[in-house]
Amino acid sequence: MLEHGGNIGAASAHYGIPAEQWLDLSTGINPLGWPVPVLPPETWSRLPQDDDGLVETARRYYGSEDLLPVAGSQAAIQILPRLRARARIGVLTPTYAEHTRAWIAAAHEVVSLAVSAIENTLDMLDVLVLANPNNPTGEAFDRGTLLTWHARLATRGGWLVVDEAFMDATPECSLASETQRGGLIVLRSLGKFFGLAGARVGFVLGAPALLATLREQLGPWTVSGPARAITRAALADLVWQEAARPRLRQAAARLADLLAHHGLRPAGGTALFQWAPTPQARSLHEALARQGILTRLFTDPTGLRFGLPGEEAKWQRLEAALTAARRAVA
Ligand SMILES: Cc1ncc(COP(=O)(O)O)c(C=O)c1O
Repeated sequence: MLEHGGNIGAASAHYGIPAEQWLDLSTGINPLGWPVPVLPPETWSRLPQDDDGLVETARRYYGSEDLLPVAGSQAAIQILPRLRARARIGVLTPTYAEHTRAWIAAAHEVVSLAVSAIENTLDMLDVLVLANPNNPTGEAFDRGTLLTWHARLATRGGWLVVDEAFMDATPECSLASETQRGGLIVLRSLGKFFGLAGARVGFVLGAPALLATLREQLGPWTVSGPARAITRAALADLVWQEAARPRLRQAAARLADLLAHHGLRPAGGTALFQWAPTPQARSLHEALARQGILTRLFTDPTGLRFGLPGEEAKWQRLEAALTAARRAVA
């Protein structure tokens, strides 16, 4: 199993700090996510219903007709590689590591590609997988470039897989409405912008035949009734979404400034996290963890990813901890 952020249990055991005392900045999950209401009792007792309105609501939200709800985009990441015969797959590096793991596990040949290598390697690939915006670097790809890459792959029956887990704050940059083009597959997540990572919901957007195969592989009831109900309400809540976007943008700018002020100028970021490459990543990670602040440590390349703190007191706590951590590391 790969390591991910959000592992408070392990951090708690390692540093001897009770779980409830941690400030978890190790994920890109919105700390002030969509407010989940109490659900009607039958939501728990009935089997999930395909005609509950979730798909229609998601179509409006994503601007795409062809989509499939899945138990987190992770579920699709694991199954997609099984839908192709052995092929050569280019995966952006660094990126969310589950992509590479899944394509290798399905016996494909995987080539790790820096952004600068994609253009010259594309014509040797069957599939290109990238995240837009990327995690952890925050690198954003423009729609025109991606559609050109898709067209080059599609003429040979290739796929472009775009993981848009962190796209919801910038819907104008999404390719969600373009997936009627064969060979373009977009993955979306309810875990980040909506802050509903525990509900395990995501969507695959792509050609109907591909979605039908995926659906068959995943089997019935892959998304629970309560998760479907919450997702439908969150995707329909335009008022919350429109308020959340500028709030997240402001918080992201504040986090970037705070990190820069402490010698950790981010090299990139999204509305939900900042990426600070530094050779001192490990010692800073540990100095912050000893104060109950969990960041996500990367070793290749070496850096720290910081999620948003949330309430004001948590910002103050991060600021004080950064000051102390810098002193400890120096
Ligand atoms: C870029 C990216 N894609 C996909 C996922 C999987 O998210 P989920 O399965 O919760 O939708 C993550 C989780 O961290 C991620 O960072």
